[in-house]
Amino acid sequence: MNDRIKDVQLLTPNELIRPEGLLHGVHGMSGGYTTPLSNCRIMYFPKIHDPAGNLTFIEGGNHIPFDIARTYYLYDVPGGSSRGSHAHKGLHQVLIAMSGSFDVVLDDGTHQTRYHLNRSYCGLYICPMIWRRLENFSSGSVCMVLASQTYDEADYIRDYDEFRQAALGK
Ligand code: TYD
Repeated sequence: MNDRIKDVQLLTPNELIRPEGLLHGVHGMSGGYTTPLSNCRIMYFPKIHDPAGNLTFIEGGNHIPFDIARTYYLYDVPGGSSRGSHAHKGLHQVLIAMSGSFDVVLDDGTHQTRYHLNRSYCGLYICPMIWRRLENFSSGSVCMVLASQTYDEADYIRDYDEFRQAALGK
């Protein structure tokens, strides 16, 4: 388990709603960020503008609040389909829409928040014990995940009721 979790300066809820509508968090039942979901944030990575094409870089130990042990990506996802309905017991992760767009619905067992990711210079940090579902993939979209652990099926919770009981301590 990676315990080098740093505080990162991320966005306030108001900042999540950008005038250009590029990326926004839609508050769920909570109507606020007073739940464990407040640990999950949008991150903005450096962006080098160039008429010949923009460039974004992500440095381990600098831009990500954990040591990256694994990266994987979802691609060739049929438009409109859903993926990733599960939670992780200990995994920290950052999701990035490298191409196209998709929604990420986060759920801490009580409250839900929906994010729309569609810029490759933005990432969504998700802490452990958050149920997450990816949906509304645009055709040709690519979701890259930076993860704090190598793959371990034992770290997954794939049953929502089991997750909810664990999250709520019941
Ligand atoms: P899973 O995480 O269940 O994806 P989703 O919830 O989006 O369907 O992974 C799908 C399959 O891929 C599962 O059999 C485990 C395997 N897998 C790996 O072998 N290594 C990995 O790093 C990941 C993320 C999945």
